[in-house]
Amino acid sequence: MSDARVKEPRPDPATGPNEAELAEAGLRLDVDGAIATITLNRPERRNAMTFATWRGLAKIGESLPGGVRVVVLRGAGPAFSAGIDLGMFSGGAGAEDAGGAFPDGADEAASDRFIADLQAGYTWLRRPEIVSIAAVHGHAIGGGFQLALACDIRVIADDTKFCMKEPALGLVPDLTGTKPLVEIVGVNRALELCLTARTVLADEAARLGLAEHVVPRDALDKTVGEIVTALLAVNPGAAVATKRLLLEAPHNTLDEQCAAERREQIGRLRELFGSQSA
Ligand code: ACO
Repeated sequence: MSDARVKEPRPDPATGPNEAELAEAGLRLDVDGAIATITLNRPERRNAMTFATWRGLAKIGESLPGGVRVVVLRGAGPAFSAGIDLGMFSGGAGAEDAGGAFPDGADEAASDRFIADLQAGYTWLRRPEIVSIAAVHGHAIGGGFQLALACDIRVIADDTKFCMKEPALGLVPDLTGTKPLVEIVGVNRALELCLTARTVLADEAARLGLAEHVVPRDALDKTVGEIVTALLAVNPGAAVATKRLLLEAPHNTLDEQCAAERREQIGRLRELFGSQSA
């Protein structure tokens, strides 16, 4: 959902996950002033994700300190993320900390709520108050690929391998990834990528618009750091208003978008020069 009109819950630092919850979710959170870095942190399982991971991401979003302007998502170890923890299907490794059982679908309303709670781990990354950056290297499969798609900017290493694996496992991609994927590559290419579940390497990802930057693996952190510095150099109010405006653009007619530009600019002029000028 890149619809700016979708209302996210307001961040509440009091509800933030504690260290134990983050560890159980396979996540690490480092907040340094205006920058929050979320590390997918189960390298021994290639950062495979459980329900606990997605709920942990949602909690981070709900409790993000108001001063955070940039959120970076990265993976520890050799991969960004191998997607859903396959142990959850077999009841094997990973299932014990998965954070609940799969809904069986019989109670449609309960199943809908269950999946919506997981999607909340991804939707907040579109909030206008922040810019989210996926720093991707190695495999980004299924839920991992969708997490990268949920971010505003994807900076990928030259060893990145994207794959939308869900249909090959009998599932659909349901972690908010289908909308950005179609918006970026179009319906036909999205269909081809999802229904063949093929791997997209870094060069092709860049050609398709799935990455804003492709860099050598050892330059990933440095490049992300430079982008963060550039983002933070921009006036905070202008950054929020511009993201809001850009998120609205695909849904608006030209007239509606022109009106939105005027509205946002009047707000900027008021803030910059006082109410007499606007
Ligand atoms: N779930 C649980 N464990 C995993 C997962 C996963 N998705 N991916 C990797 N692991 C574990 C492996 O079982 C292995 O554990 P072990 O050391 O106990 O044997 C360890 O992580 C390392 O995995 P390797 O396969 O040895 O690592 P490699 O770098 O060679 O390959 C790769 C990585 C390509 C990611 C491979 O592990 C793989 O294909 N994983 C499954 C990917 C998948 O199908 N994900 C589901 C996507 S659909 C969705 O997300 C909804």
